[in-house]
Amino acid sequence: MQRGYAPFLYFVAVLGLEAAVQEECRIIEALQNKLTYQQRLQYMKHYFPINYTVNVQFEEVLRAANITRLRDQNVSEPSLRFLWFNVNTQVLLKIQAVLLEKHPAWEYTRDLGLLFEQLAEYENCEQNDINVCEVVEQVLSSDAGSSRKAVRPKALLDNCAKVMRMLYSESCK
Ligand SMILES: *[C@@H]1O[C@H](CO)[C@@H](O)[C@H](O)[C@H]1NC(C)=O
Ligand SMILES: *[C@@H]1O[C@H](CO)[C@@H](O)[C@H](O)[C@H]1NC(C)=O
Ligand SMILES: *[C@@H]1O[C@H](CO)[C@@H](O)[C@H](O)[C@H]1NC(C)=O
Repeated sequence: MQRGYAPFLYFVAVLGLEAAVQEECRIIEALQNKLTYQQRLQYMKHYFPINYTVNVQFEEVLRAANITRLRDQNVSEPSLRFLWFNVNTQVLLKIQAVLLEKHPAWEYTRDLGLLFEQLAEYENCEQNDINVCEVVEQVLSSDAGSSRKAVRPKALLDNCAKVMRMLYSESCK
């Protein structure tokens, strides 16, 4: 390689990385605008029967406390975001599965799912975080016979919004 080439490549890589972070943050901002308390309340509570619950795997109940615990175990931030991304992609599929297309929450749930799809290329598991990567595998192979839990849809999206804030407020100011 010619001298003077490496800094140039480095410059291009940094530019590329910055563009990727900006794009990721743009999607996160769009998610944030769709996950306001008012919308979660309206679409995930008022439009559902009283005390309605969705069956999810235990690992799909990803709360702020889980993130705090995993951070204490030195799990990297990219892997935590990968976990959040995969858990909530599955959660949205499970909520959507109980809705008919004419249900007032159907479009809302689909729009959230589309934003998560856009996020896919920006989220990856770091190989060092083998435990977290394995949890994601388990969540994705949802028929692995893991225990189920009945959770209200609003509680699931409350977790989604809260954990998103924890994971992105630093990198996406
Ligand atoms: C809904 O759940 C609450 C407790 O969480 C209970 O007090 C209430 O009776 C339930 N309502 C219906 C209609 O099942
Ligand atoms: C989150 O914490 C609960 C217990 O509070 C646990 O059952 C669940 O497996 C944890 N999820 C992950 C992904 O660590
Ligand atoms: C996490 O990293 C800190 C600082 O590098 C270290 O002191 C601590 O023992 C680590 N904790 C675990 C659970 O590996």
